[in-house]
Amino acid sequence: PDLFAPERPNSKGFDLTHQPTLDLIDAARAPFAQHRWQAAPLLAGDAAPKAPRDLTNPADPADSPGSVAEASAADIETALAHAAPWDAPAEDRARVLNRAADLYEENFGEIFALLAREAGKIPLDTVAELREAVDFLRYYGANAPQDPPVGLFTCISPWNFPLAIFTGQIAAALAAGNAVLSKPAEQTPLIAHRAISLLHEAGVPKTALQLLPGAGDVGAALTSDPRIGGVAFTGSTETAQKIRATMAENLAPGAPLIAETGGLNAMIVDSTALPEQAVQAIVESAFQSAGQRCSALRCLYVQEDIATPFTEMLIGAMDALHIGQPWQISTDVGPVIDEEARAGIDAHIQTARAEGRLVYELKTPNAGTFIAPTLIKIGGIADLEREIFGPVLHIATFKSHQLDEVIGAINATGYGLTFGLMTRIDDRVQHVTEAVHAGNIYVNRNQIGAIVGSQPFGGEGLSGTGPKAGGPHYLTRFTARPAPEAPE
Ligand code: NAD
Ligand code: ALA
Repeated sequence: PDLFAPERPNSKGFDLTHQPTLDLIDAARAPFAQHRWQAAPLLAGDAAPKAPRDLTNPADPADSPGSVAEASAADIETALAHAAPWDAPAEDRARVLNRAADLYEENFGEIFALLAREAGKIPLDTVAELREAVDFLRYYGANAPQDPPVGLFTCISPWNFPLAIFTGQIAAALAAGNAVLSKPAEQTPLIAHRAISLLHEAGVPKTALQLLPGAGDVGAALTSDPRIGGVAFTGSTETAQKIRATMAENLAPGAPLIAETGGLNAMIVDSTALPEQAVQAIVESAFQSAGQRCSALRCLYVQEDIATPFTEMLIGAMDALHIGQPWQISTDVGPVIDEEARAGIDAHIQTARAEGRLVYELKTPNAGTFIAPTLIKIGGIADLEREIFGPVLHIATFKSHQLDEVIGAINATGYGLTFGLMTRIDDRVQHVTEAVHAGNIYVNRNQIGAIVGSQPFGGEGLSGTGPKAGGPHYLTRFTARPAPEAPE
């Protein structure tokens, strides 16, 4: 295949409406239904032995998908001492990343099982996640820069895209020839460990890619050593701010920080919108992945004239959602990641209940860390003090003449990740999309699921530094382009 063809197709994924495909997935994941994986540091030198910590399936407290031995200070030093940029031509790096993409696809059964049992991902989420990971590997490989690398990159990722975002950061840094120290989220080290094994199997040298599982303290150590040349981070805005301060104190001036962070994402539905289309887009945007997407819809503005029938229709669609085990194909909404997340979201719902603002909620299963899709009434987006990272949608109404006020309130949050608009007025599309500050704006569709290569993804303000992932400018931040010559 032509690795550098500009029109490379994206991964096709799996058609979950096709019974033979479902049978194939079932057969491929069955051997991993009881499997216990073990994660540990993957270093170019020897790792220090340590006691492992058991992990729990978020949907089933009786199931442990495996254990993790986290990185110690000695492991971090070993990784730093052995790290060496990937000294291979860009074409060779591209070939290896493509091979890794093939290995990800070949191991789909294990990946379906791992994502369900460690991260609570339903099959629909896993299809999207696997596709995105594969796309990142191929897209960054196909665009592997010829410029020299920065040197040593730390990649720190969140649990909500434990394969796709984890892989995307690493693939970009490697495509540019950097050495990578990878720190996955503490909730999802098993997926990370398997992914790094596949990347090594594909041919990425161990000196160029090492895994250091652990919590925030490991991340802090990996962003404060002066040998680190740059950091790619995805996670909360608060953590990004801490990392920026740590880097400023300890790393060389100008060391790149690529941070993709949280959002307080809104959608505006006016009275000309097609209600069925809008309801479907809202349900997907707010409740798919149990609302655990940075892109997810948090605050829905509905024009007052249609608010009553529209809300009824939305409740009807919510009612049709099936909350259940992530292993099952019929499940629409799986668990949230862990008990800490569940308790935090539940506290928010209880406050709304006490204040009489609960519009609708579905029934939550008893065992596991589930939160049922919930609809809460608010006055406007300014009422949301923080990102509620789960299947909770807030709804507000506006009058036609208040549109610019609503846009002002959305912009005033300081976040700027995704935004949705449902309208059939062309001038309004023009006006609103120009006025709203958000990295990814979607019109008359859902506002999740950006596609690598065609919809570069990333926010502005509190939502990220840019450049957008999966877009043409991302890789340049992982290179040390010679500074332009000073004018004479
Ligand atoms: P988090 O910030 O708690 O953790 C993210 C990562 O940072 C983890 O690996 C964690 O161990 C590490 N970390 C924690 N403290 C650290 C420190 N002091 N120094 C270095 N590393 C540290 O976020 P999370 O809860 O894992 O993920 C959810 C958040 O991620 C949400 O806010 C979501 O919006 C955001 N997110 C953003 C995007 C995007 O593309 N913009 C994508 C996915 C998730
Ligand atoms: N890239 C992911 C989405 O668009 C976060 O939903």
